[in-house]
Amino acid sequence: MNKVIVYYSLEGNTDYVANYIANKIGADLIRIEPKKEYPNSGFKKFLWGGKSAVMGETPELEDYVFDYEKYDYIIFGTPVWASQFTPPIRTFIKENKEKLVNKKISAFTCYSGGGAQNALEKLKQFLGINKFDAELILVDPKNKHSDEKDSQIEAFCEKLEK
Ligand SMILES: Cc1cc2nc3c(=O)[nH]c(=O)nc-3n(C[C@H](O)[C@H](O)[C@H](O)COP(=O)(O)O)c2cc1C
Repeated sequence: MNKVIVYYSLEGNTDYVANYIANKIGADLIRIEPKKEYPNSGFKKFLWGGKSAVMGETPELEDYVFDYEKYDYIIFGTPVWASQFTPPIRTFIKENKEKLVNKKISAFTCYSGGGAQNALEKLKQFLGINKFDAELILVDPKNKHSDEKDSQIEAFCEKLEK
């Protein structure tokens, strides 16, 4: 099965997991970026990103290539922002909704302690699906790295390969 990981990462945790999975299972990577970067430090970081997520914004994205016909399996990766999935992922889904029909879909999310289940629930709702094929939730896997978290990523990879 041809797989692609579509992800957004502000501070590198989701990027760490996406690259780990891609190396392990040989998936392609699409890292999406908003045209207007979110602040990545200080109070502004939480204020701007949090507000944008709660408001359900769909920021314009830098150009990306999504050869959807190539893939039968899409894996979404997103940090949790204010208990929501991130706005760039919202934009990607909005722009590609009809291209995701009949694809297998899984997701992983990185957070620092609250709201991950809600974020994944909202992501499912926005995708219009009842269930992810597989899902993974990790607490800051790069900034608070541990072998146990890597093992969880490995277990997730096994599910993706089934
Ligand atoms: C704008 C903003 C809002 C956040 N909101 C939450 C939150 O509601 N719950 C939580 O556990 N972590 C929250 N975090 C922390 C991130 O989800 C967490 O550090 C994640 O691992 C970051 O992923 P990244 O490094 O790929 O950007 C927030 C971070 C930012 C920047």
